[in-house]
Amino acid sequence: MSDLPTPTITITQEQVEFFRTNGFLAIQSITTPDEIERMRAAYDDIFTRRAGRDDGMEFDLGGADEDDQVAVLPQILDPLRYAPGLRNSLYQANALAISKQLLGEQAQPHGSHAIFKPARYGSVTPWHQDEAYWSPDFIYNSLGVWMPLQEATLENGCMQFIPGSHRLEILPHHHINNDPRIHGLEVDEGVIDLCPAVACPLSAGGATFHFSRTFHYTGPNRSDIPRRALILGFGTPAIRRDQPLDLYWQRQTNTTAAKKREAAARRQAKKEGEKGETVKG
Ligand code: NI
Repeated sequence: MSDLPTPTITITQEQVEFFRTNGFLAIQSITTPDEIERMRAAYDDIFTRRAGRDDGMEFDLGGADEDDQVAVLPQILDPLRYAPGLRNSLYQANALAISKQLLGEQAQPHGSHAIFKPARYGSVTPWHQDEAYWSPDFIYNSLGVWMPLQEATLENGCMQFIPGSHRLEILPHHHINNDPRIHGLEVDEGVIDLCPAVACPLSAGGATFHFSRTFHYTGPNRSDIPRRALILGFGTPAIRRDQPLDLYWQRQTNTTAAKKREAAARRQAKKEGEKGETVKG
């Protein structure tokens, strides 16, 4: 992130207050149309070639992720690693600057992912809290920035939030369809009232911000164009808990992608071990 352009946006004190009260914020412009255009080409390229699939970084968030099945909700973790065209953007620079306003000056980048909702059959991203996926060992002060690479509407799956839900504990989640082979999590039925949901349609170049505990959802893509989203995480340093939370659904996870990521980590450790020995020798 060291080569980021100079940020061009600051948000108002009212917007900061809105975020703290409601747990989310929509802004209509975080970058330029030119940058969106450039990023869209890089974004489509990594999804076309399924970048990172062998390392478990590309998988179907909404299905069992079998090689011979059409993915209903393809996701790529750390997409900037695979797509130089997504790096050093004004989007990143502004997202970081606004995150500092919302979380404090210590806010730093904290992961990224890309979710592609195919035209006509892209499936829902069910209601969830991001922390339901995260390590139960830490207390977080984090947020996600969600930027569509075309307009985002109710028809193609814009973000929706439950106002004030960032103040809740992490509520019980389960794997989609109760299938532990599916990466995606969904909050258990009946544990939260979803009626107050607020939808946030955006034009291309807009973005939403949400705390890592704010309940959010995107609907299915019923439109004739793909719905692309590039999500950046930011947070102040996490604090270790005395007692880890019991996020029992994480122990049930049995995805092919998680196994591929473990194998990739072992390969990397072996490579570094060999390098270490070479240096020592
Ligand atoms: Ni999420």
